[in-house]
Amino acid sequence: MIRTTYSLLLLSFVIAIVYSTDYFVEKFEDESYTKRWVQSAAKSDLGEFKLSHGKFYGDAKKDLGLQTSQDARFYAMSAKFDSFSNEGKTLVVQFTVKHEQKIDCGGGYVKVYPADTNQKDITGDSPYHIMFGPDICGYDKKKVHVIFTYKGKNLLIKKDIKCKDDEFTHLYTLILNSDNTYEVRIDNEKVESGKLEEDWDFTVPKRIPDPNAKKPSDWVDEEKIDDSADKKPEDWDKPEHIPDPDAKKPEDWDDEIDGTWEPPMIDNPAYKGVWKARQIDNPAYKGQWVHPEIDNPDYVEDQNLYLYKDISVIGFDLWQVKSGTIFDNIIITDSVKRAEEFGNETWGKTKDAEKKMKDSQDEVERKKEEEERKKREAEDKSKTPGDDDDTDTEHGKSTHVHDDEL
Ligand SMILES: *[C@@H]1O[C@H](CO)[C@@H](O)[C@H](O)[C@H]1NC(C)=O
Repeated sequence: MIRTTYSLLLLSFVIAIVYSTDYFVEKFEDESYTKRWVQSAAKSDLGEFKLSHGKFYGDAKKDLGLQTSQDARFYAMSAKFDSFSNEGKTLVVQFTVKHEQKIDCGGGYVKVYPADTNQKDITGDSPYHIMFGPDICGYDKKKVHVIFTYKGKNLLIKKDIKCKDDEFTHLYTLILNSDNTYEVRIDNEKVESGKLEEDWDFTVPKRIPDPNAKKPSDWVDEEKIDDSADKKPEDWDKPEHIPDPDAKKPEDWDDEIDGTWEPPMIDNPAYKGVWKARQIDNPAYKGQWVHPEIDNPDYVEDQNLYLYKDISVIGFDLWQVKSGTIFDNIIITDSVKRAEEFGNETWGKTKDAEKKMKDSQDEVERKKEEEERKKREAEDKSKTPGDDDDTDTEHGKSTHVHDDEL
């Protein structure tokens, strides 16, 4: 009996462990990534990715990642894995991005491609299933892209998701559920979620305003009206401007040369403005007219908005002005928990140490600048010692003389 319970427990333990599937994992821990990643040859001047942990990092090996190394270039590199379908399953795409160069303009996203993608030919025009991740350009554009390709069209999310714009490594997670819902996380925290149908224009809307419905001509939607009992006071109307009563004709005014003198106009202090009747509730008010909606005859329900039957390649196809972005810790899996754990084990383990190294580098830099500033000031002083002394002496003398006179 005890033994049975034990093996049942063991069985459920095993099931719990094998439950998730990693379709793709890449940690960029050494140069062996070059065997798994294919550089596109579609253009001759594509930017070069290099393996680097960057200027500051939490762990010299774990934080190695794929870094863009040339300014103002397009980049296109990808990795292939066994094609899979996310039918009936959750799909999680997750990776880290570090814009340590204080990025001015450039992509920090991944693209997930179909099985028939020719990796050597990848350009910005290559069809993809999903595009996900941060995109920064100037001060205005700092967003997280979530683009799904549906019936040949790239559909952008209608919500605005802000991305991180600092110099540290951040974890970006896209969760796509088979019930046609989604969630976006940054650093393992939810930043957006919802229904695919509502947050992208996959199809025409389900409901539309009834084209046959019209606002009745006798509909009253004026909430307030003039109070007919309110009358304009007899003495209300006064001119807005009057000739300045204090103005005098200048003595040297010559009517023949200067024309007839007229006093300048000033605001009339007695002017009360345009009279308006007091407002009262309109007894005939029916409320705002609401256009009735009907089911859209063109709407076609699709239970499989989330579905991609041949997910097989992940890649970076992007443009960067100032290079230096590091991509790392990619995982494509069917388990949110697994992705969260993977995020914890990678980004979660090194982020604090990364921040610490950056802070101490900043501190060293600050001290160096402070010393240089002091040195410069000292040099400026020692350049003109005579002048300074003279000025001081003269000033002292003149004060002294002044005192004597008193
Ligand atoms: C990941 O780390 C966070 C913060 O330490 C923790 O709350 C969470 O439970 C972890 N998730 C997993 C799946 O281990």
